[in-house]
Amino acid sequence: MWSKLYPLLRQSLFCLPAETSHHLAIDAFAALGALPFNGGVSKGARAVQLMGLTFPNRVGLAAGLDKDARAAEGLAALGFGHVEVGTVTPLPQPGNPQPRLFRIPPAGAMVNRMGFNSEGLSAMVRRLEGIRSRNRLRDTLLGVNLGKNKDTPVQEAHRDYVRGLEAVYPYADYVTLNLSSPNTPGLRTLQSPEALRELLTAVLDARERVGRGRTKPVVVKIAPDLVAEDLDAIAAVVSTLRIDGIIATNTTITRPGVDECWQQEAGGLSGPPLLPLSLATVRGIRERLGPSVPIIGVGGISSSDDARAMFAAGADLVQVYTGFIYRGPILVHELARV
Ligand SMILES: Cc1cc2nc3c(=O)[nH]c(=O)nc-3n(C[C@H](O)[C@H](O)[C@H](O)COP(=O)(O)O)c2cc1C
Repeated sequence: MWSKLYPLLRQSLFCLPAETSHHLAIDAFAALGALPFNGGVSKGARAVQLMGLTFPNRVGLAAGLDKDARAAEGLAALGFGHVEVGTVTPLPQPGNPQPRLFRIPPAGAMVNRMGFNSEGLSAMVRRLEGIRSRNRLRDTLLGVNLGKNKDTPVQEAHRDYVRGLEAVYPYADYVTLNLSSPNTPGLRTLQSPEALRELLTAVLDARERVGRGRTKPVVVKIAPDLVAEDLDAIAAVVSTLRIDGIIATNTTITRPGVDECWQQEAGGLSGPPLLPLSLATVRGIRERLGPSVPIIGVGGISSSDDARAMFAAGADLVQVYTGFIYRGPILVHELARV
C-alpha cells in the first residue's frame, strides 16, 4: 500500500514549507495511533536482545521527529521496532526562529537548526502516562531522548539531564542523553572527557536513586564530527562508567555532498551525505569499545544496503529520520527485513 500511496503524499507534502508538512505528518501519525486496528502490524521476524530489552526488529525511529511524544503509537503501527521521542528539555522553549528546517531533494537530505523546540518535561510526562495507560505500543520499545534548556549554562547541564531522567524514567524503556545537537550553543562540549564524566556520573547516580532495583539502559548520542582523540576519550569514559550503549550519530555541521549554497545555512545536515561520516564514527567507536557495548547506528540510512553497511560497521540496531521523510513507511519494512 505505502509504495504507491507515499510518493503521492510526499508530492503534496513537499509543496508546503518543511515545518508545516512536519506538523501535518505528526497529526496524521497521531490519528493513525488512535485507530482501533493499529498495533497488529508485523515488525518482521528478527527480534534482538540488547541492553536487557527485546527489540522486535532492528529498525527504530530517530529522535527529533516526535519531539513531544504526540504520535508514538501511530509511528509504532508503521512497523518501527523502537521509537525514540524527544529531545525534551526540562522547561518548555520555542527553539530557533523559523525558517529552521530545509529540504535538499537532489541529495535526499535536510538541514535543520530547530534548537530543541520542546513542550518541556511536564507535557512529555503527561503524554507518556497516556501512552503507557493505553498500552497500544504492543512490542515496540519507547526511548526518551533528553536535552538541556538553552538558558542553562553548560557547567550546570548535568542538572537538566538529571531532571529529565527522574521525570521520564518510569515510562521509558531506555533513556538517551543527547550531547550532540549542533543547534544548542555549547552542547557538544559535553562530549569532552571531563564534562562527559561529570555528566554521566550525575545521571547514573540519579538512575540508582530512582531505579529502585530496576535498571533501565542509559545511552549517549554522539556527533559525526568527532576526531580520533575524541572517540578515544568517549570510549574510555563510556567503558569506565559502564554506559549501556552509544547512538552514533547526530547531524553534521559539515556540508559534504550538497550544493555550496548550503554552507551559508547554519544547522545540522542529515540524509545520505551524512552516511560516510556516521559509518566511520560507528566503526571507530566499535573498534575502541569491542563487541560488548551496544551501538545504534543512525545517519544517512535510506536503503537496505545502507543498513547492511551500518551493521557491517558494527551497529546492533539502526535508526532513521531523513530517509523516512523521503521514502516513507516502506523503508521501515525494507530495513526490518535486512
Ligand atoms: C528536523 C530534525 C530534527 C532533529 N531533532 C533531533 C533531536 O531533537 N534530538 C536528537 O537527538 N536528534 C535529532 N535529530 C537528528 C536525528 O535523530 C538523526 O540523528 C540525524 O538526522 C541523522 O539521521 P538521518 O540521516 O536518518 O536523518 C534531528 C534531525 C532532523 C532532520
